[in-house]
Amino acid sequence: MNIRPYEPEDQTAVLDLWERCGLIDSDSRAVAITDLNRKLQVQPDLFLVGVLGEEVIATAMAGYDGHRGHLYYLAVCPQHQRQGYGRQIVSQVDKLLHERGCHRLTLFVSNDNLVVTGFYERLGFEHNEVISMGRFTGK
Ligand SMILES: CC(C)(COP(=O)(O)OP(=O)(O)OC[C@H]1O[C@@H](n2cnc3c(N)ncnc32)[C@H](O)[C@@H]1OP(=O)(O)O)[C@@H](O)C(=O)NCCC(=O)NCCS
Repeated sequence: MNIRPYEPEDQTAVLDLWERCGLIDSDSRAVAITDLNRKLQVQPDLFLVGVLGEEVIATAMAGYDGHRGHLYYLAVCPQHQRQGYGRQIVSQVDKLLHERGCHRLTLFVSNDNLVVTGFYERLGFEHNEVISMGRFTGK
């Protein structure tokens, strides 16, 4: 798998991949497009796609805020899962963050997707005993 930064031409392939992986559905596609376009404005080099031949089969969107690195939209196409591609693209994120002086990577797992925690444990992630909270800014 060749890993490179996301390009605008990848948009449809990436959205289709996320839908196949259950990260979005047809209703949240518009929100995801906004996410993609915003990411092109901020650290776009930390938004990676994994390509096999011509096909985008994996994504990982990361960011570094000067304190911690964060990982979002990790996905590997269902028919290519369990072949090491998830580990490979997270490893590339890890390398890019470390090069920027980021020494800790955190991520969120939805309560309805706890099955994925086994994957992160295999990659050395530990459970943080925290509750994630959020709201829109400007309130
Ligand atoms: C999570 C995901 C990216 C993993 O990708 P993948 O390419 O299948 O993972 P890998 O093949 O690199 O697996 C790496 C290791 O984790 C293990 N693993 C993978 N999925 C696992 C799971 N669901 N539970 C337990 N272990 C898992 C593999 O067996 C492998 O173990 P080993 O190499 O130590 O023997 C993929 O399952 C996916 O896209 N899921 C749907 C989207 C999603 O939930 N994303 C995460 C949002 S927080």
